[in-house]
Amino acid sequence: NTEQSLMRAMSLFTFNSTFKSNVRFCDIFSMTSDGAAFQYCCDEFIEEYKDQTFDQMAGTDARGFILGAVLAHQYGAGFVPIRKLGKLPGEVIRLDSTSEYAKNKLELNPSHVKKDGKILFTDDLLATGGTAQSSIKLIRQAGGQVEQAAFLISIPKLGGEKKMTDMGVKVYTLFEMEDNQSVINE
Ligand code: PRP
Repeated sequence: NTEQSLMRAMSLFTFNSTFKSNVRFCDIFSMTSDGAAFQYCCDEFIEEYKDQTFDQMAGTDARGFILGAVLAHQYGAGFVPIRKLGKLPGEVIRLDSTSEYAKNKLELNPSHVKKDGKILFTDDLLATGGTAQSSIKLIRQAGGQVEQAAFLISIPKLGGEKKMTDMGVKVYTLFEMEDNQSVINE
């Protein structure tokens, strides 16, 4: 049943040992490599947005591509990549250094974005929200409309959800995690 599927998918998230800014990031690949768990998670997002239409999904390099591509296919929408510095071909835009998030310098090719298109932003994790905030700023700068964002995991205490709300972005997440010792290296 649904609750068992949820618990199973949840149990498959493990924590890797890479720490960035004292935050230990969840490894989603223990879940995505399990067919039943991955299908369950994707179906939850498909259900959440089934009454809406989107022109495009957008996701951030690298793990934001996974859910974004699944949902793009499901809704017959395009997929727009936001990539780390130097990875995208063509004329790209990036944020100026004062408003750029220090951890990830991101780039977008504005020709990929449908002007005034309704775009759902997706990523695996909403932690401090810096990555999502920078990504959504870039999409808006390119003329896309982003009012919703979907994440597999959110850690509300790290402030990402507030950042999204402050930007007028409604968040949907499958799992919420505490910023306890399993997430933060204290
Ligand atoms: C992780 C994750 C999110 C971001 C969330 O990406 O996939 O994009 O961090 O953190 P934040 O809310 O504090 O910005 P990472 O930079 O590890 O890149 P990766 O997907 O290439 O592993």
